Amino acid sequence: MTQPSPSIPHDVTDLSLAAEGVRRIEWAEREMPVLRQIRERFERERPLAGLQIGACLHVTTETANLARTLKAGGADVHLAASNPLSTQDPTAAALVAEYGISTYARRGEDRDTYYRHLNAVADVHPVITMDDGCDLVSLLHADRPSQLGEIMAGTEETTTGVIRLRAMAADGALAFPVVAVNEAQTKHLFDNRYGTGQSTLDGILRATNLLIAGRNVVIAGYGWVGRGIASRMAGHGAHVAVVEVDPVRALEALMDGFQVMTVDQAAPWGDLFVTATGNINVFRREHFAAMRDGAIMANSGHFDAELDLAALREMAEGHVREVRENVQQFDIGGKRLNLVAEGRLVNLGAAEGHPAAVMDMSFANQALSAEYVARHHAELEPRVYGVPEAIDAEVARLKLGAQGITLDPMTPEQLAYVSSWQQGT
Ligand SMILES: NC(=O)c1ccc[n+]([C@@H]2O[C@H](COP(=O)([O-])OP(=O)(O)OC[C@H]3O[C@@H](n4cnc5c(N)ncnc54)[C@H](O)[C@@H]3O)[C@@H](O)[C@H]2O)c1
Repeated sequence: MTQPSPSIPHDVTDLSLAAEGVRRIEWAEREMPVLRQIRERFERERPLAGLQIGACLHVTTETANLARTLKAGGADVHLAASNPLSTQDPTAAALVAEYGISTYARRGEDRDTYYRHLNAVADVHPVITMDDGCDLVSLLHADRPSQLGEIMAGTEETTTGVIRLRAMAADGALAFPVVAVNEAQTKHLFDNRYGTGQSTLDGILRATNLLIAGRNVVIAGYGWVGRGIASRMAGHGAHVAVVEVDPVRALEALMDGFQVMTVDQAAPWGDLFVTATGNINVFRREHFAAMRDGAIMANSGHFDAELDLAALREMAEGHVREVRENVQQFDIGGKRLNLVAEGRLVNLGAAEGHPAAVMDMSFANQALSAEYVARHHAELEPRVYGVPEAIDAEVARLKLGAQGITLDPMTPEQLAYVSSWQQGT
């Protein structure tokens, strides 16, 4: 039986859930062979020895395995949730009680608690930050400028966070270098597309038990995430329409076999709406008014701002009820619109986030990027960096290797051919 570890600062819902958390974390670990190999190397080499890492990540079983890896590398890890709804309480309990990692996360925490938790992490004076959505970096810059000089570097997990960081760098406001883990190919090609594609569907199905086949599904945004969701919805037999603002992405959606519509056209057409733009108010008052009775809305973008929820609440004039776990129904003048997971990341709010096998690669990039900044921070400037190509290639190689797949190296003749400009037709 796992015993609570009172010496470790923490704020979690219920430490007695730790044993369940351990079982789930170990289950996820079986699907994370790349991270496991990195952990074994970190145990030997201790590349993060003595470093305080402040992390603001979704508190899931996969994150727990990342935190264990960082700790194996010698880091002192302090973790706060990056979303009030994504925390798995058993995981949070196990992190504290079994793995000795300071964790501040309660599923369903309110805004004040969320920021209290972030501040608890900031209080330990991290020298490496690890964000999913840039909240920790933003808080440090806004409220704790005196700490900025202590920070070697940070890493950022998701698209929305990278956008915020680039805006800070463009304003000259970013005080330390940050590695955009999202930009590793072994992150966004797999996590955003296959991970979010599958887990978004999973969240919607768990919450609604909807039959997807034959339904009109509208996907807002045809980026990495939108592509993944659209292809999975089509695979389940949906009629898929995409709304976009970027002509190239819209054309790609069209050639991938989907309809492309404006938001005005899509609103009365769709049965199910899923946003994945990283932008705000994609569906607004006029679109809610045009939607069909029974329409379902969900969001997989980082913030709960993609649907104009203030307008939706106003239109319902208090006629809102919980019709199933994770489904709120808004009665707008006799027409019922359903919202999954409060408009927050549906794959984390109503399901378990990405499958571990995908997070294996994303978090391998996180762990190797932390090692990279620990070694190279003195050479880096305060701006946003991509993940070094060598790390990307290493993650892909390890992942293939874990599945027993080896690749052909180029023959010397082939190498000479691809590096020469003299050979033509
Ligand atoms: N749910 C998850 O687990 C998860 C995982 C990865 C990323 N994300 C988040 O999902 C969002 C999308 O990520 P991505 O990697 O696909 O980004 P991306 O930049 O590749 O794609 C976003 C797309 O949305 C389009 N867009 C922007 N504003 C729009 C609007 N008003 N209407 C229609 N389309 C619009 C853009 O043109 C772009 O093609 C981000 O917020 C990201 O942080 C969530």
